[in-house]
Amino acid sequence: MVMIHFFLAAVMVGAISLCPETAEAAVMGPSMQKLTWHYYKVYNTCENAENFVRHQVEKFYKSDKSIAPKLLRLLYSDCFVTGCDASILLEGPNSERMAPQNRGLGAFVIIDKIKIVLEQRCPGVVSCADILNLATRDAVHKAGAPSYPVFTGRRDGLTSDKQTVDLPSPSISWDTAMAYFKSRGLSVLDMATLLGSHSMGKTHCSYVVDRLHNFNKTGKPSSTINKSFLTEMAKQCPPRTRKGQTDPLVYLNPDSGSEHSFSSSFYSRVLSQKSVLEVDQQLLYNDDTKQISEEFSESFEDFRKSFALSMSKMGAINVLTKNEGEIRRDCRRRN
Ligand SMILES: *[C@@H]1O[C@H](CO)[C@@H](O)[C@H](O)[C@H]1NC(C)=O
Ligand SMILES: *[C@@H]1O[C@H](CO)[C@@H](O)[C@H](O)[C@H]1NC(C)=O
Repeated sequence: MVMIHFFLAAVMVGAISLCPETAEAAVMGPSMQKLTWHYYKVYNTCENAENFVRHQVEKFYKSDKSIAPKLLRLLYSDCFVTGCDASILLEGPNSERMAPQNRGLGAFVIIDKIKIVLEQRCPGVVSCADILNLATRDAVHKAGAPSYPVFTGRRDGLTSDKQTVDLPSPSISWDTAMAYFKSRGLSVLDMATLLGSHSMGKTHCSYVVDRLHNFNKTGKPSSTINKSFLTEMAKQCPPRTRKGQTDPLVYLNPDSGSEHSFSSSFYSRVLSQKSVLEVDQQLLYNDDTKQISEEFSESFEDFRKSFALSMSKMGAINVLTKNEGEIRRDCRRRN
């Protein structure tokens, strides 16, 4: 615990300080160095771009708090597949959006609205990839996360192919999840932290029925679930016995529920074996991540700081810059 704490303390200074020099020194990976602090202001192309985005997000958030988890999931689905290039926003029969893992993605209309505003103010300048990163930051900030620095200057990808979508299912095993995060240059700490995004939002029963009723084809629930929570969940997600049975949505964190608030209660639930997804509950069964969960459940501040850092890292995965890609005029279509 002490070591992780020290590690967080050391790296976080940069992550949430608003001084780009410190941030660079402390946290930037090779990919992040391609991006610029306040790109649109520095290059004088759209001085108020970030304010326009924030204003729109605040307007949407007032009427729908679920945009925070929806944008987070959209950003994750974009960045982990071919990098943060807004390829997830492109429409078409073979686009990433059509992959089964991306069923139920939302928040596209928010990005469209922000893009329309920006095209009116600064035509052809602000990329959809930056809009997605900025809007997610601002929405999760409204929900209770820190307002971490989003470096900008991303450009939009030209292609989107559902065959490239290798996002793991929410019912993924721990080892597969870990290998997946490592393949994107993220660490165990990043994974433990980003799983904390499940502090808000919903998932489908189909991703949890097996662990409730027939874990690993044993005909029994997973031994990792707290008995009282199992009873509660089993009511909401009965066994699937016939085709065409409805597939209800359940809250990923019943403590947060319809408030969709970002908090460290996710980690307290991990410790008392009340995680909804098996992969979240597995945080308890690995020494490193058990310590991280204990630390985050005790200190919301440590979780917030780590979240700021991991989000910055995720937002920099395989970004396109300079003359790569394009600046889309309509986020759903190539120019
Ligand atoms: C699932 O069952 C298989 C074969 O019975 C076993 O090897 C494996 O360890 C089990 N997995 C878990 C997560 O319990
Ligand atoms: C299971 O839940 C009960 C009731 O909320 C709680 O008192 C207990 O500590 C939990 N079990 C574990 C292993 O944390």
